[in-house]
Amino acid sequence: MLTGKHILIGIGGGIAVYRVAELVRLLIRQGAEVRCVMTRSACEFVTPLTFEALTGEEVHTELFDLAGERTMGHIQLARWADAVVIAPATANLITKLAYGIADDLLTTIMQVNDNPVLIVPAMNHSMWNSSATQENVEKLKFRGICFSGPEHGELACGEEGPGRLSEPETIIERLLPLISEQNLAGQRWVINAGPTWESWDSVRLLTSRATGTLGSCLAAIASAHGADVTFVAGPGTPETPDSIHRINVESAGEMLTGCREAAKGADLFIASAAVSDFRFSKLITEKLKRGDIEQLQIELTANPDIVATIASPGERPRHVIAFAAESSNHVEHARKKLDRKGVDAIFANDTGNMGSASASGWWITPDQIEQIDPLPKEKIAEKIIEKIMELQQ
Ligand SMILES: Cc1cc2nc3c(=O)[nH]c(=O)nc-3n(C[C@H](O)[C@H](O)[C@H](O)COP(=O)(O)O)c2cc1C
Repeated sequence: MLTGKHILIGIGGGIAVYRVAELVRLLIRQGAEVRCVMTRSACEFVTPLTFEALTGEEVHTELFDLAGERTMGHIQLARWADAVVIAPATANLITKLAYGIADDLLTTIMQVNDNPVLIVPAMNHSMWNSSATQENVEKLKFRGICFSGPEHGELACGEEGPGRLSEPETIIERLLPLISEQNLAGQRWVINAGPTWESWDSVRLLTSRATGTLGSCLAAIASAHGADVTFVAGPGTPETPDSIHRINVESAGEMLTGCREAAKGADLFIASAAVSDFRFSKLITEKLKRGDIEQLQIELTANPDIVATIASPGERPRHVIAFAAESSNHVEHARKKLDRKGVDAIFANDTGNMGSASASGWWITPDQIEQIDPLPKEKIAEKIIEKIMELQQ
């Protein structure tokens, strides 16, 4: 979602400057074009060279720069950006932005900028909690400016409280909705993901190699596009942005209950979880020991079919999208599943994708089969969301 986006990072003079280097790397890794503006104070902590080396671009520090301002550099930088991230946002910068003070390059750019802004404060907790800072934060929020953090924890000064710079991943999660078209606003989506655990005895399980990575990417992207997302997650599924209502479950039974409850009145259900088709007929409450039994016969019972239940008349959200993990004849099996379960589309893929960072597959609807070549799972998730948006038109 960041591919080709122009992100301007405004770097203030706080001890957390060094952590912004990681944010810059992550943005670039996710396809963004990044340029940096540092305040004079920021340059006291880390030299511009670090950010020049990371971005491959000149780092701007001075307003009265003869070469830069020959072309009105401060205006050009503001026009170039799709969004501005101020990190670390010092108490000083927050105050200047609240009052529209433009006495250096960064604050002057901010007076020109009319693109989305994300402020990422980092400071001592007393500085953050001071009535001056709090009043200025309220002023900026009132103008619709978004904040990420500060997070609570141990601070550079050794004290503890709110003041830590948000993690780079969190900053990007907050940034995505600001630069994404809100074309799913007003829709309620339910997505399940991950493996399920079926207990056999007090320690052993029946599960799969699924990780829930693709499902959590789908949830994050849908949420960034404005959907109200409920995410029903099996064990070990990656973390999801705070904007997502997450329900953690273990067994297929719990996943069914969670999905059924959430899907009532929803616009769309995506069944990406690798739900165990079977559970143990009898649960052994203690740990079975070697030597307790010579030969063991295990009896399994079929689990309820979550997709078929939710796609059935009376329960059905407007659209239902299923996943099919197959080890052979992928398209043929998936087409049968599409008809049998009465879903709108299936993403068929190979069981070998489980546990891997990339995937490939086929997007199958009643009148379309499209092959999707191997891509990182975030990119596959973007493609699937695009396909769903087409389906909804
Ligand atoms: C060692 C040191 C660490 C500092 N850390 C912070 C900080 O984390 N957050 C903050 O708001 N100010 C911090 N300051 C104060 C700012 O550097 C100071 O307010 C400066 O004027 C900010 O300039 P700027 O907002 O233009 O970058 C620190 C100062 C020093 C000397």
